[in-house]
Amino acid sequence: MILQDTYTLANGVEIPKLGLGTWMITNDTVAQAVVDAVALGYRHIDTAQAYQNEAGVGEGIRTAGIPREQIFVTTKLAAEAKTYDEAAAAIDGSIEALGLDVIDLMIIHSPQPWMKFGDDEDRCFEGNREAWRALEDAYKAGKLRAIGLSNFNEADLDNILSSATVTPMVNQVLAHIGNTPFELIEYATSKGILTEAYSPIAHGALLGHDAVSAMADKYGVSVPQLSIRYTLQLGLLPLPKTANPAHMKSNAALDFTISDEDMAVLKAQRVVDYGEANMFPVYGGKL
Ligand SMILES: NC(=O)c1ccc[n+]([C@@H]2O[C@H](COP(=O)([O-])OP(=O)(O)OC[C@H]3O[C@@H](n4cnc5c(N)ncnc54)[C@H](OP(=O)(O)O)[C@@H]3O)[C@@H](O)[C@H]2O)c1
Repeated sequence: MILQDTYTLANGVEIPKLGLGTWMITNDTVAQAVVDAVALGYRHIDTAQAYQNEAGVGEGIRTAGIPREQIFVTTKLAAEAKTYDEAAAAIDGSIEALGLDVIDLMIIHSPQPWMKFGDDEDRCFEGNREAWRALEDAYKAGKLRAIGLSNFNEADLDNILSSATVTPMVNQVLAHIGNTPFELIEYATSKGILTEAYSPIAHGALLGHDAVSAMADKYGVSVPQLSIRYTLQLGLLPLPKTANPAHMKSNAALDFTISDEDMAVLKAQRVVDYGEANMFPVYGGKL
């Protein structure tokens, strides 16, 4: 069962193959979502400083009724923290907000502050090396079990690798049917970096997609199930978001295999319209 499967990060830490996304789940409802997810067998929760729900996630982890060390929690260092001191303070802030002694994985949310996201003129190379140094120190101090990146392209990865004493363990990027960064995934893999797939259902945009729906029907599964399974078959770690227990349950029922032929059809899809969510920087919008 997928909920019990893990990938092994470069430092030997095991990370559950399916995580629960929590973007847009409010701080006062997310604890219940975490408790429900854990009851269904989820062991991996993805949050971020920017989601303003770390406190609720921590509460859910503490009240889920299983030992803390059986749950893998990821949070993200604010995209705006680009000095060593800001990053170090923010790391401690997450530990405090979550109310946990140790965070399993902490990643730089974005190579650039959100206001500059996608601006190739300024990739904030120096700031990212400083933020990375703060993550390395927290990792070496035992506050973080693993460290990584998010939304980093090849040049951004190279910048970190040029001065890192700890190689990043993951890069969390936008990856779903219709928008999969194949070259970046291959590059990360060549460096021993696991790629996590955020928005595996395209933030919901795949739900009404004709070709994807038709293929889901062919396998007798839902569009979210097909979408999540697609990322797993690419060796990625999907983070579908929902606070609905029925959706959580079906999103983890992935006992089917997409044929090579159908994977090729899905890889060739191009879906980049996120509807109202087009305004967010991660989908190409500007703040
Ligand atoms: N690093 C980054 O910059 C970044 C950026 C974006 C996202 N993320 C992470 O990735 C996670 C997932 O991405 P996302 O939140 O953008 O979107 P997503 O997981 O691709 O899609 C979520 C949407 O799909 C719906 N859904 C989920 N399961 C369903 C099911 N079984 N049946 C019907 N609808 C279903 C949800 O509705 P319901 O809620 O009603 O179920 C919601 O509308 C985030 O929560 C976050 O943790 C990271």
